[in-house]
Amino acid sequence: MKRQLLTLFFLTILSTAFAQKQNAIKPGEVWPDNNGDHIQAHGGGIVKIGKVYYWYGEERRPGLDTGYRYVSCYSSNDLMNWKFRGYAIKLKRPDSILTNNWVLERPKVYYNNATKKYVMYMHIDGGIKGISKSKWAYDYARVGVAISDKATGPFKYLKAFRPLDKESRDIGQFIDDDGTAYLIFECRPTDGFYIAKLSADYLTVDKEVSFIHAPLEGGAIVHYKGLYYVVGSALSGWSPNPNKVATSASIYGPWSSFENIAPPETKTYSSQSTMFIKVAGSKDTTVIFMGDRWKPSQLSDSRYIWIPVQIGDGKLWLPEPKAWTIDVKTGKWNYVNDKPEGK
Ligand code: DGJ
Repeated sequence: MKRQLLTLFFLTILSTAFAQKQNAIKPGEVWPDNNGDHIQAHGGGIVKIGKVYYWYGEERRPGLDTGYRYVSCYSSNDLMNWKFRGYAIKLKRPDSILTNNWVLERPKVYYNNATKKYVMYMHIDGGIKGISKSKWAYDYARVGVAISDKATGPFKYLKAFRPLDKESRDIGQFIDDDGTAYLIFECRPTDGFYIAKLSADYLTVDKEVSFIHAPLEGGAIVHYKGLYYVVGSALSGWSPNPNKVATSASIYGPWSSFENIAPPETKTYSSQSTMFIKVAGSKDTTVIFMGDRWKPSQLSDSRYIWIPVQIGDGKLWLPEPKAWTIDVKTGKWNYVNDKPEGK
């Protein structure tokens, strides 16, 4: 009996150890962190500090204190294996005018080289007491800002505001190759989305850089070989739709018309744009589309659709999602069942 128990113990340890090592990115599958738990970084954002990638996102696991909203932080050296670093912020209702159904969505973190601070932007929304008609209204429409000395937090909540005095819902993050930091935000009353430059300390928005008159959210931008590619999703709540791309030679525009980024019937392979990661390695540059496959009935089980995109000359296209692997040093990637290039 004792021996059987010991065997069981070692088998459990072994299987956990194997479950933890990820050798591929498998779009749409459960993505275990170092503890074997599905990563909770929905609607997330990634920032690279030195050689370490930090992934922040909506923490939705069951059993959390419902009086708070949480942002989780994960770190990785290879974009495949992610270590849970805890809650970067655990936020109590930040404004007494918000009803209990307030939300914290799509958190993004920027590192400010001058102030040495980490600055988090998040979409804070929900019903306003005595005004909102629906229990699930998104009427607050502001960005929240929090600050930390460390990438992993704890972040201290500072304020919520309307960037450029506009209603702001989905937010996106874009850091250009020259380090300039931008916030992308969707605005219903003006029927489009803004790209705004952050202030020198990143604690507020400095100025409008572009307004794109297209009813799109989930805004994501990548700068690749002299062109800016902006992607967004139609306004269909948690349900996926065909996401689209426009391009411009300048972040100030003018922007081209929008084109599909995947066969429209797949509805972006049942996902919604969140961000791009550009891996500029010694041999190649790979651009990764980060999408969320939302599961509104159980948000914690929402999946990640990360796809290395086909990009260049004004075209951006998502091939069918398949398991793939990347070498962040060389920037090269492969489908897991294919032989590496040149072999
Ligand atoms: C779509 C947004 O992109 C999500 O972040 C979330 O706000 C859902 N709408 C809520 O319906």
